[in-house]
Amino acid sequence: MGIVVLGTGSCLPKRVMSNVDLESIVDTNDEWIRTRTGIESRHIGGKDEQTYILASRAAEKAMVAAEVTPDQIGLIVVGTISSHMQMPSTACFVQTEIGAKNAFAYDLNAACSGFMYGLDLAYKYILADHSMKVLVIGAETLSSRLDWADRNTCILFGDGAGAAVFGFTDDDRGIIGTHMLSDGSLWELLHMHGPESSNPDLKVENNTGAFIRMEGREVFKHAVRAMEDSVNTLLASKGLSIDDISLIIPHQANIRILHKLVERLKVTPDKVFINVSKYGNTSAASIPIALDDANSQGLIAEGDMVLFCSFGGGFTWGAALIKW
Ligand code: ACO
Repeated sequence: MGIVVLGTGSCLPKRVMSNVDLESIVDTNDEWIRTRTGIESRHIGGKDEQTYILASRAAEKAMVAAEVTPDQIGLIVVGTISSHMQMPSTACFVQTEIGAKNAFAYDLNAACSGFMYGLDLAYKYILADHSMKVLVIGAETLSSRLDWADRNTCILFGDGAGAAVFGFTDDDRGIIGTHMLSDGSLWELLHMHGPESSNPDLKVENNTGAFIRMEGREVFKHAVRAMEDSVNTLLASKGLSIDDISLIIPHQANIRILHKLVERLKVTPDKVFINVSKYGNTSAASIPIALDDANSQGLIAEGDMVLFCSFGGGFTWGAALIKW
């Protein structure tokens, strides 16, 4: 018995922005972006492609693939740092949009680890109640949270959503384990201000700073080390080694982080799924979009050992292992 992925789906905005397009926005160039990040293009959400719309379209595809109807969904969790509104949650908008009238719904802020933390929640909810079907979504429109004059950040990110439906099975497949960690003490290295959480003078002021800020080199080092640690800790706790893994689906931050991870984990590059060139870093959406890409390309077969790892602002990070 185990907790399995019943179906996956994803949705990308229609507009594609290439590196060359970016050259007319900030002082950058295609060659710099390709060699430093591996990114060639990213999708940018339009007026009617808000976070909850992308999330809902991805969710509908995942439910069709899972052969699950909206009224069978018991819980909707949306990992996002670019929520449609501060309140209600994007998950509540999704619930209405897809007609999941029997679900309860909430958002989860774990930055790029949002889908992974959601996977962990699904795992534990379904362990406690085998009848539960959980829709986990990672969805972002980070184009609305970027400082388009800051070339250190605006070239890295993209918009999109990915989703997976989790449920229970009687056979021996399913989630083998998860390993999740956070370290809030390093928040300044990667953060995004919003409205301040204190207003003692009761003033009405504009919020001017809801942009991603990042110390790129520091984030790079922490990301590689944390994902490597999480993967090794999880595998050791299950008496497994990296050789037991069929496919690794990591957070798609940038190609150099992924190459370093491949080197540290001592895996062959063909075992690591990479699609960052097409989408950039879509934060919480990156793993479920990659999972859906890998799944629809037929790269995952029943019984495969699929390993996920993520790292993001907080810092938050983790790894999860599924026997598919
Ligand atoms: N275009 C052209 N030149 C640029 C750009 C740009 N977009 N951005 C920076 N530069 C310049 C810098 O100004 C600097 O110029 P200088 O030497 O004249 O001062 C030069 O390029 C080198 O800049 P660095 O910041 O040192 O470049 P680095 O090699 O560290 O690469 C990068 C920057 C790509 C951000 C790298 O640090 C990185 O990959 N960090 C990881 C960050 C990340 O992926 N964050 C995503 C969120 S967290 C996550 O998802 C894991």
